[in-house]
Amino acid sequence: MKGMVFNLLNELVEEQFGFSAWENMLTKVESDGVFSMAQTYPDELLFDLVGAAHELTDIPVKDLVHSLGEFMAPVFARDYPVFFENQPSFKAFLLTVDRVIHVEVRKLYPEAHLPEFDYADEQDDELVMLYRSPRQLCALAEGLIMGCAKIFEQTYELTHDRCMHSGSDHCELKLKFDS
Ligand code: HEM
Repeated sequence: MKGMVFNLLNELVEEQFGFSAWENMLTKVESDGVFSMAQTYPDELLFDLVGAAHELTDIPVKDLVHSLGEFMAPVFARDYPVFFENQPSFKAFLLTVDRVIHVEVRKLYPEAHLPEFDYADEQDDELVMLYRSPRQLCALAEGLIMGCAKIFEQTYELTHDRCMHSGSDHCELKLKFDS
């Protein structure tokens, strides 16, 4: 994972639980807590930090990862506005995540650890995103979807019946957009 993700986790923890919480988490992992934005750090370190946050706060890991995704969305919108501008709809934006956004991210950072999304687009007011990643960060995807939906002022219902955490080879994120 990129240093950027760790720095956002740092910001989120300090904002919600205070500076000492972050300091405490760092004592539980092998890191000095200094991350440079574009450098890649082991995925395990992110999982260890989230695990430490869970021990400290008792908040389920899934919810912490979801919050991180939600927190990342406005930062992406600020730092990469081009991906958010001129989108006819939130659904159109989501269709660009795998086909444009992550393609561009990979050009910038060839070693980035990105997920794969396939889409089933059969109804105007629905979209199914099929998520595959060895990191199984579907909660991050759900959080990013929620954070980005706020930016597009789009409400929706999400169902996530098929999940990699329950033995499936992919997650199925079914979105139904409110009109
Ligand atoms: C402008 C918007 C976006 C940008 C710039 C962006 C960029 C990135 C970057 C830089 C990473 C980390 C790569 C690494 O650390 O090696 C990442 C990971 C990820 N992104 Fe995006 N992303 C965006 C939108 C989204 C959205 C809307 C979703 C969900 C639908 C999404 C799903 C994910 C997931 C789940 C990961 C974690 C890696 C994994 O699951 O394997 N991204 N993205």
